[in-house]
Amino acid sequence: ALVTTKNMFEKAFQGGYAIGAFNINNMEIIQGIVEAARRQNSAVILQVSKGALKYAHPKYLRAMVEAAVAETGLDIALHLDHGPDFETCRDCIDYGFTSVMFDGSHYDYEENVAKTKEIVDYAHARGVVVEAELGKLAGIEDDVKVDEKNASFTDPDQAVDFVKRTGVDSLAVAIGTSHGAYKFKGEAKLDFERLEEITRKLEEAGIHNFPIVLHGASSVDQKSVEMCNAYGGKINGAKGIPAEMLRKAASMAVCKINMDTDLRLAMTAAVRKALAEDPAGIDPRGYLGSGRDLITELVEGKIKDVIGSADSM
Ligand code: G3H
Ligand code: 13P
Ligand code: ZN
Ligand code: NA
Repeated sequence: ALVTTKNMFEKAFQGGYAIGAFNINNMEIIQGIVEAARRQNSAVILQVSKGALKYAHPKYLRAMVEAAVAETGLDIALHLDHGPDFETCRDCIDYGFTSVMFDGSHYDYEENVAKTKEIVDYAHARGVVVEAELGKLAGIEDDVKVDEKNASFTDPDQAVDFVKRTGVDSLAVAIGTSHGAYKFKGEAKLDFERLEEITRKLEEAGIHNFPIVLHGASSVDQKSVEMCNAYGGKINGAKGIPAEMLRKAASMAVCKINMDTDLRLAMTAAVRKALAEDPAGIDPRGYLGSGRDLITELVEGKIKDVIGSADSM
């Protein structure tokens, strides 16, 4: 069924795993992800950015996701990723999304609280859940480039205050991840102590099993990068979050792990290879089909070996 993330997160928190949240922009990406979830009998979150809304239209995305639900019988949540304002969140709720993120992380604290609360009120009255964000990720977020110096990790005490005052259902935190293909110049490092402290302080405040969300969690697998480059790509110095760190986060309070870059790399690598190997070919079903297949392989690997959501249905 098309569901909210409520049950998914409850089970994930207790089971020590996370649900994958994958960005969707077209039919092949949706089908690639959902086929992997079906094979692994896994619940899944399909998420749509503002750019994806503009590219594909919410009505098309909603209809394709409904088709995926009807075809597989899986629990699927349709989620707005990085909602920039009340209007975008409201529109997605009205279009039948089951979950929305309001990203007020670039506002000052009180403004983030007030704006998040307004969306929580609108969403909860309609049975929709809300994710918010506190702290700043390095990298590119909502067209705002935050460099590593201006990134600021989530303050645990503020997180407790924020959750209490907004009534939000899950919280995206900054602990060292960032968006895109270039996450670290040197060694990859995440602040797991901070993550632990956030959960401990929430528990002390009587907020139990509260789901934390990890954005910017692509691993930037070197195999896809090399495949892109072998067929005409020019991707240099790309680096993501090692699978081992994601496994650790998933075993903790992190219940939702966001991945977009890995899917982009897989799709691009497969399309480049298919076009290069069949220079006379002009059937989009050939190369887009290759992209779809590689996305399935990628997502199956994430579900089985990284986030641990296999058989979560
Ligand atoms: O966090 C951003 C996601 O990777 C979506 O990216 O805004 O280019 O669709 P996009
Ligand atoms: P990546 O760029 O690491 O895939 O992160 C995606 C994301 O956080 C979408 O909200
Ligand atoms: Zn994100
Ligand atoms: Na978890």
